[in-house]
Amino acid sequence: SKGGYDCFMLKEINEQPEGVKNTLERRIDENGNIVLDGIHLTKEDLDNINRIYIVACGTAYHAGLLGKNALEKYLKVPVITDIASEFRYSDNFVDEHSLVILVSQSGETADTLAVLRDSKAKGAKILAITNVVGSSISREADEVFYTWAGPEIAVASTKAYTTQITSLYMIALNFALEKGTITREEYLETIEKMKELPEKIQSVLDNQDKIKETAEKIVSKEHVFFLGRGVDYSLAMEGSLKLKEVSYIHSEAFAAGELKHGTIALIEEGTPVISIATQENLFEKMVSNMQEVKARGAFVASIAQEHNRSVEKVSDEVIYIPNCDDMLVPIVAVVPMQLLAYYVSTMKGLDVDKPRNLAKSVTVE
Ligand code: M6R
Repeated sequence: SKGGYDCFMLKEINEQPEGVKNTLERRIDENGNIVLDGIHLTKEDLDNINRIYIVACGTAYHAGLLGKNALEKYLKVPVITDIASEFRYSDNFVDEHSLVILVSQSGETADTLAVLRDSKAKGAKILAITNVVGSSISREADEVFYTWAGPEIAVASTKAYTTQITSLYMIALNFALEKGTITREEYLETIEKMKELPEKIQSVLDNQDKIKETAEKIVSKEHVFFLGRGVDYSLAMEGSLKLKEVSYIHSEAFAAGELKHGTIALIEEGTPVISIATQENLFEKMVSNMQEVKARGAFVASIAQEHNRSVEKVSDEVIYIPNCDDMLVPIVAVVPMQLLAYYVSTMKGLDVDKPRNLAKSVTVE
């Protein structure tokens, strides 16, 4: 049932505080440690891994891009994140020293499952992050970590994404503690910050006016561009996918630093640009990119942390999110983009939950 909401997508967006909370907090023991139920890698296993691959499709791939950041930061092992349908047919160097992490809400995606099987045959350790108990991917993986998002019905993935990122971060933290690449202090401190996420997501859900206003500005447009750097570029890809699949507006995500290498030619009077500027160390760079598009007439709507008020001088509209750690911010910052997609879709009178031509789980190649 839709539990009083007009569609599953909106219900599922609203279930994210709870989904993130369940995925994280129900696994924290009395000493404040995360318990990775379903994962049994020892320090020896971790020492044996010299490369990690995160492979997935669509939104799960976008979560995997963020997982790469966390694993590289904490575990200090090189990580390659790729799209399953590309990875399958590439010379990917997977071997017995590889850990292959498959991320899949449904656990049934054909290309992701094929990568699991190929990688297993090559002797890699296989870890699945999935939302569906008993799914094909969960049955065939060596290690399974479940997102506790609850059933996701809408074709557009929302709560699966935020719980997948949460899971990847939890895994990165625990592996790093086990391997000795982070201090216990940093570990506990990060967990404490993660515990604040449900409340921060809730505060975005409670303040939707700006998001609605932005939706009104883009509903009749043909193209929307999403810009970001680093973590924000991964987020831009997710925001863009969400918008295009439920609103049928052509949207693209660009790395802001690539603007001058071609993209900026597309900007004309009134072109909507959603600029994601949540990263402290890249903030000034983003501001100057926003200035560049604004000078060419773009309508700039930005997403920024509350304390970064200086985005206002280069934005037509600002959607503020609560201040967050740079690494954790995507779990909060994606929510306004999910809502934006939802609003545009409903304003256009479209079927939000079942966009044309799409299926919830892609079991054909
Ligand atoms: O079930 P999976 O996580 O393996 O599905 C992957 C993609 O098909 C899925 O995320 C798709 O991109 C969604 N429609 C995005 O909203």
